[in-house]
Amino acid sequence: MLETAKRLIVPSARSDVPPFMVMDVMAAAARLEAAGADVIHMEVGQPAAPAPSTALAAARAALGGPIAYTEALGIPSLRRRIARHYAETQDVEVDPARVIVTTGSSAGFILAFLSLFEPGDRVAIAVPGYPPYRHILTALGCEPVMIETATATRWALTGDALIAAHRPRPLKGVLAASPANPTGTMMTAEALADLIAAAHDAGIRFISDEIYHGLDYAFPATTAARLSDQAIIINSFSKYFCMTGWRIGWMVVPPALVRPIERLQQNLAISVPTLSQIAAEAAFDGRAEMDDIKHGYEDNRRILVEGLPNAGLDRFFPVDGAFYLYADVSRFTADSFDFAQRMLADAHVAATPGVDFDPVEGRKFIRFCYAGSRQDAQAAVERIGRWLKV
Ligand SMILES: Cc1ncc(COP(=O)(O)O)c(C=O)c1O
Repeated sequence: MLETAKRLIVPSARSDVPPFMVMDVMAAAARLEAAGADVIHMEVGQPAAPAPSTALAAARAALGGPIAYTEALGIPSLRRRIARHYAETQDVEVDPARVIVTTGSSAGFILAFLSLFEPGDRVAIAVPGYPPYRHILTALGCEPVMIETATATRWALTGDALIAAHRPRPLKGVLAASPANPTGTMMTAEALADLIAAAHDAGIRFISDEIYHGLDYAFPATTAARLSDQAIIINSFSKYFCMTGWRIGWMVVPPALVRPIERLQQNLAISVPTLSQIAAEAAFDGRAEMDDIKHGYEDNRRILVEGLPNAGLDRFFPVDGAFYLYADVSRFTADSFDFAQRMLADAHVAATPGVDFDPVEGRKFIRFCYAGSRQDAQAAVERIGRWLKV
C-alpha cells in the first residue's frame, strides 16, 4: 500500500518552476568560507543592517502580551500609517481602506495575480527582471510575456513595447518595477505615466512593484498611486526598512479589489504575522535611521561606479536606485554563470549571474548588490581589479 501511495506522489507540472541560481553561488560561497576564505558577499539582494530600532522596541514590548490573529486586511492603525506615508513622501492622498497588509511583497504578487487574472491570461513583464514574477505567474497557470528592454528606453517597458506585445495576442496585465531588480534602473515619472496610460487605454491591468522605493539616487521615484487610482501598487518593508526576514509588505489596490483580496487572504493566510505588523507600524518612526543606511548605499554606489571601470568592468546599466549594479561582462565571457563561479573561487567576491534574470542576454551580465559595508565595496573593487588583470 505504501508503495502505491509513493508512486502517486508525482509533483504537478505547475510546481516545476526553475531554481534561483544565486542559491548555487551562495552555497559555493559558504563552502569557501567553511574552508577559511574571506568572501565578500554581493550576491544576495538584502540589506546587511537590522530593522529600525523603533520597530525592534515595538516588537519587544508586544511580546509581553498575546500575539493573536489580526483582521485579514491588516491592523487598521498600520493601514492608516501606510496611507499617511504616501501623503508624507509622495504628496498623494491614499484612502486607508485601499491599503492591504501582506506577507512581504511576495504574497502581494500572489494576491494581485489571483484577484486579477484567470488561468491562461497573458501578463507582460520586463526582461531582465525579478525571476519570481514569471515563476509565480506560471505556477498560477498564467502566461508570462517577456518583453526585452533596451538602452534607448533606459531598460524600461514603454507604452509602445506594451502595445506591440498586446496586438498579436491580447495581454490581461503588465507588471513594472522602478527602481528595478537586477538592473537598478528607474523609470522617470513621464515614462511611468506613459506606460500606465497605454495600459489603461488598451484595457491592460497595471501592477507596479515599488519595493525599492526610498532607495532612489538618480532622481526621486514616483509612485503609480500618484498617476492612477486603478493601478495595483505592491510594496514591502524588506528593503528600505531592512526587514526582509520579518516578511511584511503591503498593497494599494482599486476599491473593487479590496473585498476579493480580503477573502483570498482570509483563506490563504488568515492574517499577516502580528508581531511583524506591530514592528512595521513603528518602523515609520525610524526613517532617519534608515536614511543614514541609505547614505551608506550611496557611498558604496559611488565606490563601484568610480572604481569598477578601472578594475576592468566599464559597462553597466544606469545605477539609479535599489542597491544593484548590473555589469556587462561580455568582454570576458559568454557565460556569466561560469564567470561568477570563477570570480568567487579566485577573487573571493560573490555576485549573481544575469542568467537568473534574463535567460538569453543574462549570459553577458552579472549583478552586484551593494547593500553591505563600505569596506566590502572598496575591497571588492580592488580584488576584481587584481583578478581581471591576472
Ligand atoms: C523586485 C523585487 N520584488 C519583490 C521582492 C520580494 O521581496 P519581499 O517578499 O521580501 O517583499 C524582491 C526581493 O528581492 C525584489 O527584488
